[in-house]
Amino acid sequence: MNQSVEAGQAVYTKKTLFIYDLWVLGFSNSFLWKCPTKNLRNTFKKHSTVNHLDVGVGSGYYLDKCLSDIERRVALLDLNMNSLNAAATRINRFNPEIYCDNALEPLNTRCEKFDSISVNYLLHCLPGSLQEKGIMFKHLDKLLNDKGMLFGSTILGKDSNYGYFAGKLMAIYNKKGIFDNASDDLTSLESSLNKYFQNVNITVIGCVAIFNGQKI
Ligand SMILES: C[S@@+](CC[C@H](N)C(=O)[O-])C[C@H]1O[C@@H](n2cnc3c(N)ncnc32)[C@H](O)[C@@H]1O
Repeated sequence: MNQSVEAGQAVYTKKTLFIYDLWVLGFSNSFLWKCPTKNLRNTFKKHSTVNHLDVGVGSGYYLDKCLSDIERRVALLDLNMNSLNAAATRINRFNPEIYCDNALEPLNTRCEKFDSISVNYLLHCLPGSLQEKGIMFKHLDKLLNDKGMLFGSTILGKDSNYGYFAGKLMAIYNKKGIFDNASDDLTSLESSLNKYFQNVNITVIGCVAIFNGQKI
């Protein structure tokens, strides 16, 4: 595996996943990225279906907080087994399917397709320009049923609205390879999404772009 792809997921250890909700979803979203997590929960609730795949699962927070306890199919896809284990344990009530795969490569995952796919805070961890890492949309599109919806969010590092401390932290994350979003802007996100989806919507809150698009 390419070193920068490895770096984008390596930080998710058992320890960092333990504090992820507090640090990222509690503190950073509100005070650094200026997009309180409530906005992302609302998007998740609005677009997730009873046949859903979450990609780049982290701690499994949105699946836990936003999916009602009805009978549903939930699947998890991530490159990192720590994330997969943490999320799967957290939502074991849904008996999730688990796929360990790299979203930047043609997927090895062979399974029935989904009606909705979420990709929250994954793009800014992936290496390359948005044009290059947008290849992920092509791979995920193959797992979407007709009329299926892909939705998610990403932190924009270029031409976006963040303060001094957020900028400093983003620079450190980029240096360490935890983020790779220094050239990610709204225009390239839009063109990347439009390449693979129709009816694309993007809303920017703080420096977070929240997006969705439908299978063509
Ligand atoms: C910042 S976390 C996002 C967690 C969650 N979606 C959220 O919004 O809170 C990024 C996740 O993407 C995963 N990841 C990073 N690179 C990946 C890749 N190339 N393919 C699949 N998953 C990847 C990481 O292991 C981690 O679980």
